[in-house]
Amino acid sequence: MRVHAPSLIVPFFLSATATSQNILVPPETFTDSTIFDTMFKQLYPWGPDHNGAARMNPSQVSFPGNNTLKITAKRVTGEKPARFENKDLPINYLSGAVHAKQQFTVEKGGGLEFEAEFNAPVAKGTWPAFWLTAVKGWPPEVDIAEWKGSGKISFNTFNTSKDVDAKDVQYPNPGGWNSISARLRDDGKGNVATKYFMNGKEVTTQTGKGYTGKPFWFIINMQMEGSSGAPGPNKDVTYQIRNLKITSMNEQTSNDPLTPPPPLPPIVPFTPNITLPNITFPNITSPNITLPLNVTLPPDGTLPPDGTLPPDGTPPPNVKFPDVTLPPDAALPPNAKFPDVTFPPTDVSPEE
Ligand SMILES: *[C@@H]1O[C@H](CO)[C@@H](O)[C@H](O)[C@H]1NC(C)=O
Ligand SMILES: *[C@@H]1O[C@H](CO)[C@@H](O)[C@H](O)[C@H]1NC(C)=O
Ligand SMILES: *[C@@H]1O[C@H](CO)[C@@H](O)[C@H](O)[C@H]1NC(C)=O
Ligand SMILES: *[C@@H]1O[C@H](CO)[C@@H](O)[C@H](O)[C@H]1NC(C)=O
Ligand SMILES: *[C@@H]1O[C@H](CO)[C@@H](O)[C@H](O)[C@H]1NC(C)=O
Ligand SMILES: *[C@@H]1O[C@H](CO)[C@@H](O)[C@H](O)[C@H]1NC(C)=O
Ligand SMILES: *[C@@H]1O[C@H](CO)[C@@H](O)[C@H](O)[C@H]1NC(C)=O
Repeated sequence: MRVHAPSLIVPFFLSATATSQNILVPPETFTDSTIFDTMFKQLYPWGPDHNGAARMNPSQVSFPGNNTLKITAKRVTGEKPARFENKDLPINYLSGAVHAKQQFTVEKGGGLEFEAEFNAPVAKGTWPAFWLTAVKGWPPEVDIAEWKGSGKISFNTFNTSKDVDAKDVQYPNPGGWNSISARLRDDGKGNVATKYFMNGKEVTTQTGKGYTGKPFWFIINMQMEGSSGAPGPNKDVTYQIRNLKITSMNEQTSNDPLTPPPPLPPIVPFTPNITLPNITFPNITSPNITLPLNVTLPPDGTLPPDGTLPPDGTPPPNVKFPDVTLPPDAALPPNAKFPDVTFPPTDVSPEE
């Protein structure tokens, strides 16, 4: 889990003042709906519908804590279709979209930076996004992150609808958290170069023609179906964004506007501690057992070569289940307990 250094966090009430960092949107923005409302509005800038099977509704947006914005898509029936590009699009979901009240512009010699942590679905029919689109006309459009139901994340910049720089890469750790950032800079020729980073590593750079000086809307939404395939899921799906930070580099002049500041440090994938009821292992000495969950245990101990667990049941370190097969002579002590990690009771059984 990423821990933000306190010095990086600007109290919300200071955010309107220009500071040396010029934070336009601080991480506290998603603390709750009251603070959110000072900076963001519900829906797309143009309303509740767009290019997929979800109709946006404020009821699907919540603030569960930890500076997190949560969007939940749920299946519905009986909604009237949306109109998109002169066609009727059936509405099969209610979901959420929000946009910043302010518009964002990369000024000549300047830049903008967007960063956040994401827990985004990649299942077929889910189309979460975090993106910038033109206020007047189209393009510009910079898709800082979108997921189109394929297991991949896409980063895109449009010169025209056909002249698109699109980079798709495998999305790591779906179901957990990843940090993504984009650093936009004027290239000195009226274009905006965007460098994209995932978990602190640079992924790609894309250039948008003539983007300098043009205002953007910033939108976070979860569309459904459309470009992400159909049918989408029947169960509710969630998309979460936390610790959003938007910084302006417009007041700084740089000799080399394309050199970004150092990348963000990698974050440890967010693995909440699983606390299930304690399991008491039977007195197994043989044969081999295979533990059923893929859980990475904390790195503060050692697994003895014979696979014997210490008498107090301290979990072995760095062990990924179900990769562990205890050898035949492995002795599990009576009443061994895993303090943080336990297993569904019926799943722990001797191998045949
Ligand atoms: C917030 O994070 C803390 C740990 O940093 C965790 O214990 C808590 O469950 C989180 N709350 C939510 C709502 O995610
Ligand atoms: C878009 O235009 C910019 C500026 O001319 C150029 O650098 C970039 O390669 C173009 N993108 C694509 C996909 O051709
Ligand atoms: C998990 O447990 C460790 C050690 O007990 C603790 O430092 C960490 O904050 C916990 N993480 C969460 C998400 O609760
Ligand atoms: C699990 O075991 C630990 C350590 O023995 C104990 O502190 C805890 O209360 C137990 N939890 C449950 C749910 O029984
Ligand atoms: C497990 O072994 C302990 C002694 O090592 C014994 O007291 C206990 O009854 C045994 N439990 C079972 C279920 O066989
Ligand atoms: C455990 O991970 C393996 C691949 O690493 C995967 O095939 C398997 O489905 C996972 N099992 C569970 C219970 O998540
Ligand atoms: C048990 O595990 C050991 C070591 O991994 C392996 O050599 C042996 O073949 C396994 N036995 C069975 C019955 O699977």
